[in-house]
Amino acid sequence: MSTLIQLQADTVRDNLYKAPFAARHGLSGHPLFTLDRLVRLAQSMDRDRIEYNAGRLAPDQRPEDTPGIDLPAVEVIRRIETCGAWMAIKNVELDPDYRALLEGCLADIRAAQDADAEPVEDIRGFIFVSSAGSVTPFHVDPEQNILVQIAGDKVVRIFDNEDRSLVSEEDMEMSPDKHRNQRYSEDFETRARAFRLGEGDGVHIPYLWPHWVEAGESYSISLAITWKTPSVIRANKIRFMNGALRRLGLPQAAPGRRPRLDGAKVFAYDAMRAGLEPFRRSESLRRLLRRVLFGRKANYYYGS
Ligand SMILES: [Fe+2]
Repeated sequence: MSTLIQLQADTVRDNLYKAPFAARHGLSGHPLFTLDRLVRLAQSMDRDRIEYNAGRLAPDQRPEDTPGIDLPAVEVIRRIETCGAWMAIKNVELDPDYRALLEGCLADIRAAQDADAEPVEDIRGFIFVSSAGSVTPFHVDPEQNILVQIAGDKVVRIFDNEDRSLVSEEDMEMSPDKHRNQRYSEDFETRARAFRLGEGDGVHIPYLWPHWVEAGESYSISLAITWKTPSVIRANKIRFMNGALRRLGLPQAAPGRRPRLDGAKVFAYDAMRAGLEPFRRSESLRRLLRRVLFGRKANYYYGS
């Protein structure tokens, strides 16, 4: 059995991409997750890859009311035991050490899948560094995910949203000016499956399954190991174009409902993205592009 992600082949076969399930991992104590190493990682990342704010939030936190933390990112990590913060370091696959670790984790996931499973693409990692009691409000993520708990503990509440009654299809459309947080109501709670993660535990959160997360009584470090299949990449392109067309007053059908139109949206997305790609390589140009195309709210995470 691998020392990275430990998965049961029958659990993966029955549940991967269809329902959450618990997993185990061997990453706790790994040298890439000491606070010193995470400080060096944060120092090497562009500022727009790091998002942080005060940690004691509600699951229905309004983005515009999220309190900030008046410290530089590296100080937040150094003082995470006491500073009451929540932080996400995004796209850690840009660092070769973390990239290699993520590739190793995905090798375990691939090995547990059926031979005819969709290919695993676009591997990304997100490291969450949170003070005790920090909350990640209710949201959905546009990727497949295995969240692993490295230090401390967390409760992850995951919700089935197949009928779209918790988060609507419109709210799952994508646009850089849309904050991740979704509307949440306490009566959703009865529909949650709660996964308690201690060190060494993990959980699979399928594409667009809503969830919110609460750290336990000590500080927490966790890693979201994420990837996309070709069908997820395609659905995301359609949801991005649907978000853009809605801004123009042209609301659209959900992915899969109008296959011909879906094809045109994917074509348009690919053409647009190819044109913008050269401008996305530097942080200042990414920031300017978001500002010009989507407005000031698209750069909300600079507000900390
Ligand atoms: Fe998430």
